[in-house]
Amino acid sequence: MGQQKIRKAVFPVAGLGTRFLPATKAVPKEMLTVVDKPVIQYVVDEAAEAGIEHFVFVTGRGKGVIEDYFDIQFELEQMLRERNKNAELTLLADLLPTAGTASFTRQQVPLGLGHAVWCARDIVGNEPFAVLLPDMIMSSEKSCLKGMVEVYDKTGGNVLAVEECDPALAHKYGIVGVGDKVGEEGFKITQMIEKPAKGTAPSNFFINGRYILQPEIFKILETQERGAGNEIQLTDGMLALAKSQDFSAYHFKGETYDCGAKDGFILANLAFALKRDDIRPLIEGPLKAITSKL
Ligand code: UTP
Repeated sequence: MGQQKIRKAVFPVAGLGTRFLPATKAVPKEMLTVVDKPVIQYVVDEAAEAGIEHFVFVTGRGKGVIEDYFDIQFELEQMLRERNKNAELTLLADLLPTAGTASFTRQQVPLGLGHAVWCARDIVGNEPFAVLLPDMIMSSEKSCLKGMVEVYDKTGGNVLAVEECDPALAHKYGIVGVGDKVGEEGFKITQMIEKPAKGTAPSNFFINGRYILQPEIFKILETQERGAGNEIQLTDGMLALAKSQDFSAYHFKGETYDCGAKDGFILANLAFALKRDDIRPLIEGPLKAITSKL
């Protein structure tokens, strides 16, 4: 089926990051480092691997450094050139988005994820798009968004990435109901419930922070009432959209790290560092020594 290509991805980076204070008082959580790259770089790389051509950042107060990160640093690069630091120069050049492919808009007040996505409406326009929560980073052979695009190419409509959780913990997540299979890795979503009461969840598949949405979501979010936490919630918008449009799921089977939480961030650092041939030999032994003393 010829679906409209997913060209644009929205990264809502305007949250307050209160779970990570005091670090996030002056540094956005998206700029915290996992091994040697900021968290946001992992998420942008995931999007690029899935064929995204335009990266839309919804920023807020104190997040200007994210915009600087995706720009050239003239003085630094000049100095690296003078010192013949060619490998470092190439590294920076490789990470720079092509001119005109990164857009920044601002959510002046953090009114919620749904509101942040709505702030991107003019830049996204009338086409389906991806949303990637920039504090969730994933480790897998195939990028999570790439797997979602493969499901989307079969189904069209809206696609959410889901993972399995311990059924006893389903009440902590946004959970989906499971319908007909779509290929090997997808299924039709029959219902969505945000934090179902204990023992009532229709499955243990939770929404993990990656979305492909149709542009009709913007119209819904425009008038969306505040929901949980007194915030304009994306989930409420999706529930309204599901009344008129199909939602499908991509079953992601890699690892996800919530870098907006201290434990997820530390685990991400350990996991990504242990995967690196240049770092694993340096830390494996000391790590064992630390844990053996616990
Ligand atoms: P979170 O609830 O995880 O982020 O929102 P937060 O509000 O920054 O974190 P805590 O709970 O205070 O620690 C999920 C994503 O939505 C973005 C956040 O930046 C995060 O990436 N977000 C949330 C916005 O961009 N604007 C908002 O108003 C709320």
